[in-house]
Amino acid sequence: MIGERMSAVSYQVDGEVAVLTVDYPPVNTASLAVRTGLAETLERARGDEAVRAVVIMGGGKTFIAGADITEFGTDKSKASPSIQDIQNILEDFPKPVIAAIHGTALGGGLELALTCHARVAVASAKVGLPEVNLGILPGAGGTQRVPRLTGVDAAIDIMTTGKHISADKALEMGLIDAVVDDARTGAVAFARDVVASGRSFMPVTQRDDKITGVDPSVFARARATVGKKARGKIAPMAIIDCVEAACSSSAAQGLAFETEKFAELYASDQRPALMHYFFAEREARKVPGLKAVAKPIRSAAVIGAGTMGGGIAMVFANAGIPVTLADISDEALAKGMATIRKNYEISVSRGSMAQGKMDEALARISTAINYADFAQADIVVEAVFEKMDLKKDIFTRLDAVMKPGAILATNTSSLDIDQIAAVTERPEDVIGVHFFSPANVMKLQENIRGARTSDEVIATVMDLGKTLGKNVVLAGNCDGFIGNRMLQYYTGEAGFLMEQGATPEQIDRVAEKFGMPMGPISMRDMSGLDIGVLVRKERLKKLPPGERFSPILERLVEQGRCGMKTGKGFYRYEGRDKSPDPETTQIIEDVANELGIERRTFTDEEIEFRLFAPLVNEGAKEIEDGTALRAGDIDVAWVNGYGFPSHKGGPMFWGEQVGLDKIYDAAVAAAERNGPRWAPGKLLKRLAMEGKGGRTPEGARCHLHEKRR
Ligand code: CAA
Repeated sequence: MIGERMSAVSYQVDGEVAVLTVDYPPVNTASLAVRTGLAETLERARGDEAVRAVVIMGGGKTFIAGADITEFGTDKSKASPSIQDIQNILEDFPKPVIAAIHGTALGGGLELALTCHARVAVASAKVGLPEVNLGILPGAGGTQRVPRLTGVDAAIDIMTTGKHISADKALEMGLIDAVVDDARTGAVAFARDVVASGRSFMPVTQRDDKITGVDPSVFARARATVGKKARGKIAPMAIIDCVEAACSSSAAQGLAFETEKFAELYASDQRPALMHYFFAEREARKVPGLKAVAKPIRSAAVIGAGTMGGGIAMVFANAGIPVTLADISDEALAKGMATIRKNYEISVSRGSMAQGKMDEALARISTAINYADFAQADIVVEAVFEKMDLKKDIFTRLDAVMKPGAILATNTSSLDIDQIAAVTERPEDVIGVHFFSPANVMKLQENIRGARTSDEVIATVMDLGKTLGKNVVLAGNCDGFIGNRMLQYYTGEAGFLMEQGATPEQIDRVAEKFGMPMGPISMRDMSGLDIGVLVRKERLKKLPPGERFSPILERLVEQGRCGMKTGKGFYRYEGRDKSPDPETTQIIEDVANELGIERRTFTDEEIEFRLFAPLVNEGAKEIEDGTALRAGDIDVAWVNGYGFPSHKGGPMFWGEQVGLDKIYDAAVAAAERNGPRWAPGKLLKRLAMEGKGGRTPEGARCHLHEKRR
């Protein structure tokens, strides 16, 4: 433990160079222990006459990964020395200090490095300022120093996206001074060279007191483009304000402005929501009580060369795993491969993928018609139509040919995993691995454990998610699992709202203002109304007596309106451009008349609550019955699978902030309107009665995390 060690930063002398190594696992955050250790060892180096230069590096797998988020809001974050105190020491240090970067230098870690006299990094290192993902901004001078090094456009891009930048790119941008083979030896050699040459370095903020010559229209343009992507996030806009300040005021004024903006963001509701989300994403990877470790996955197969299967094959190929794409005919495979190639070409043309990477990825995808051709794959993912009989047939055939120990996964979005597993002689190897469309873009991988799935198979697919660059959650086996089970209440309420007088446009506008990438009505049009009707046919069989779905969907499909693909659904389409359609209004009014529903107008607030509160109720029921392990897992599923705004923390965190008593009341009212399925669950009821929820105090955990009683 760190408290038992002398210091979180060790001091060694290599000839005339002092090497300060930060050792604070797991990611060497700039915690109080590290800041104290740096201040002490820098003082030692200052007084050590044998030392003529200093290297700061990270021990273990990384350089400093940023401020310690767990210290936010605690006395430790306010205690001296602060990151800024260390930066002041560094900028005035009488001997050259070189940052030696390996792993990642992120946030406050990179900002510390930017106040060293020079920075070197190994080729595999990444640097970045990901504070925006936590609802804050680089508050240790990043917004003022980065534009001075990289220029305004690149600085805005780096800080508003939070992306990681490779060492080569960082060198090109001026963020680092050299790429070296080994962090320690490279930095020590660099330091010796600096000493020998007598080179002097000026602190970044003193090189230009103010950034000049920037066309002011850059900021208006940046606000327009970044604003579109931000969907209500305030931190990206505050970052642009700070970069603008770097161009209009002195460095000292710019730094003071940054501090002011940081404080505003820190106090906003978005910061705790995004911090909750950060930890939820990491916790979701952990499955308590698993008695096995993950196996390596070195090869894969995907059955079904349609949009979903092709996307999944790309996910494996992009992660460096050879994959066989299988379908029933050469035509289907050729069509699937053409779509894959086209998708890669689009990435290359947009500059998000290098041609060489595309060629490598394509070379990893082979095709097959016979199952025997991929029998040796470590995992096979079935991604065909949502028809139980078809899936059973495929799993019977897989069981016959796949090597012992291969994982047999289904990409079903709602079907019963146990029924599929039951046709095999190895139900312990069967699991749901549900990707979201388009699989090569959407970040969620919802894994579904069947009743007999082995711990080893669960551990392996959870681990695989990280390799594939996905955010994982583990769900229990029920209709729709974590995400789609909740979705039916969201889209269901949208249907009822239309019957009662809300227009499709108003519903979509409210959802999009809330932060969803697309409203529920447009989402239906895009995924195909006919598909929605098919899924509902199955669900209708299970509806309790007295419950119904709004029949608007079926009426539209009867009129040939299947959504965007047929040029009309709820909306009318010219390509992707949509407009309201009076025919839809008529269909909705007819349905309302037939059902004797009195129509009225709705406020945006009413619509927002009617759409989102049922998600929280159903999510709480999932925690209650074990479908979701934790409230945070539901948040991870909804942020990554459905685009729920991360700055609201996910539906469960949002529900807590609104107040569980209000969510409870909404569920009681929904049950009166729509039937017993909408009634509050036991967990929600108990927490609401106990007065839980409302604005969560700093550092408090989501009450919905509490286990069932
Ligand atoms: N503070 C506290 N804990 C952190 C942390 C941080 N900044 N970054 C990571 N951790 C913890 C994680 O919660 C996780 O803990 P558990 O093992 O208990 O779950 C552990 O470190 C390992 O993290 P990952 O599982 O994410 O490990 P990884 O190897 O996949 O990724 C990483 C490593 C790239 C550093 C990633 O953790 C990451 O991106 N961290 C966030 C970095 C960040 O946001 N820095 C900016 C902080 S804010 C700031 O610096 C403000 C400022 O301007 C002064």
